[in-house]
Amino acid sequence: MATEIRAVRPDEFPSLVPALVDLLIDTVDDGASLGFIPPVVPAAAWKYWIGLVPELAAGSRVLVGVFCDGQILGSAQLWLPSLPNARHRADVQKVFIARTLRGRGVGAALMAALHECARQRDRTLLLLNARRNVADRFYKPLGYREVGVIPGYSLGPNGARIDTASLYLQL
Ligand SMILES: CC(C)(COP(=O)(O)OP(=O)(O)OC[C@H]1O[C@@H](n2cnc3c(N)ncnc32)[C@H](O)[C@@H]1OP(=O)(O)O)[C@@H](O)C(=O)NCCC(=O)NCCS
Repeated sequence: MATEIRAVRPDEFPSLVPALVDLLIDTVDDGASLGFIPPVVPAAAWKYWIGLVPELAAGSRVLVGVFCDGQILGSAQLWLPSLPNARHRADVQKVFIARTLRGRGVGAALMAALHECARQRDRTLLLLNARRNVADRFYKPLGYREVGVIPGYSLGPNGARIDTASLYLQL
């Protein structure tokens, strides 16, 4: 299987939305958060992805995709704040890999590609929020440092409150 990890062009993004909708629903319904609560209805997933179009076109958001034999099977995003005192930093958002592809180092390779995209844009301070187990086992081995844990930061199924770690990486 030929795997390619690269930034998605704004003009090709709309054609990827149907696959991204399916991936987001599958990932959240499998227990990840990504800002949603399972079950995710397709309309909500569509609204989320289509809502990115203006920022992708403006360059204030970058989406890096994992393509296997031309099919998108994972992605991660950088959001680039535009305020004058924030032009050295970026938020890392919505990192996920299709379940069938996990545990083979693709997630780490996706983050390496995302970091390279950040460097190219002079964004050398990266910020993210993650559940504690993902923070400890995925992000920290990549060099991210934990600032702290906010108890009950996000909502889960049945109103459960889920602790979330804040992390940063200096590139
Ligand atoms: C997190 C995720 C992107 C990692 O992708 P991946 O391709 O499986 O990652 P890798 O194969 O590069 O694994 C790197 C390490 O992270 C660990 N890891 C990966 N996913 C993990 C998870 N959900 N929980 C705990 N550890 C995880 C792996 O065990 C591996 O550690 P090892 O090298 O010591 O074995 C993937 O598991 C995923 O899509 N999860 C659901 C979405 C999610 O939680 N995203 C994070 C939002 S902040």
